[in-house]
Amino acid sequence: MQNKLKTIVVLTGSGISAESGINTFRKSNGLWEEHRIEDVATPEAWHRNPNLVLEFYNKRRKQIIEAIPNAAHLALAELEKKYKVVIITQNVDDLHERAGSSSVMHLHGEIKKSRSTFDSNLVYPIEGWELKLGDTCEMGSQLRPHIVWFGEAVPTYSEAEHRVGQADIFILIGSSLNVYPAAGLIHAVKEQASRIVIDPDANIIDPTLGFRIIAENAVAGMAKLLQELV
Ligand code: OAD
Repeated sequence: MQNKLKTIVVLTGSGISAESGINTFRKSNGLWEEHRIEDVATPEAWHRNPNLVLEFYNKRRKQIIEAIPNAAHLALAELEKKYKVVIITQNVDDLHERAGSSSVMHLHGEIKKSRSTFDSNLVYPIEGWELKLGDTCEMGSQLRPHIVWFGEAVPTYSEAEHRVGQADIFILIGSSLNVYPAAGLIHAVKEQASRIVIDPDANIIDPTLGFRIIAENAVAGMAKLLQELV
């Protein structure tokens, strides 16, 4: 008989992709310092100026296509040799998938996909980096980025909450926990699970929640943790 594999659930934010050259959102050089959320990441922005919204995501898509997974993404894929690993990411990039992780849930959508403005179930891969006005779904309606904007529901949240509840080990990497409902997932971790956070800013986590803090960048922090776990 084989031992039942322990389950590791990892919640990632933009900090894990920082060392792949992708900007985080808040603080120094954050994307939300250069762009106003209301201009590019809400349904109202899309109705007011779809070109500006498309341009914003086209630019980010181009950057993400050119980026490569870093050692922290690769280390998470490596953990699958010894554990059942579920990645829940707030990131819209595909660096976890390209690193080889086999179970990745995207809370905030996927930048390399588009979806119909007529029927949100019609989702398509985007060829190349550009989505333009005039690109349409099979019903003839305009395509929009497959991104969860501010003010929109997070369709994968309940499933994510369920998965977090199954964790024997819960790891949070590179998120300031500013955005809900994603940030609330840390409260779904069961009491007996071990909790670890990897983030250079140790202050993001309430000390009463019992997290072990690895106050380092994702690459260095994951190298340390991988050595301990496998
Ligand atoms: P933030 O920019 O709010 O937080 C980034 C976190 O990463 C911070 O806690 C940093 O300390 C940490 N960090 C920076 N460099 C790092 C590194 N090299 N290694 C590890 N950690 C590092 O970004 P998120 O928390 O990801 O949503 O933002 C959450 C959501 O807000 C995003 O998914 C996006 C944004 O608005 C939508 O667009 C819907």
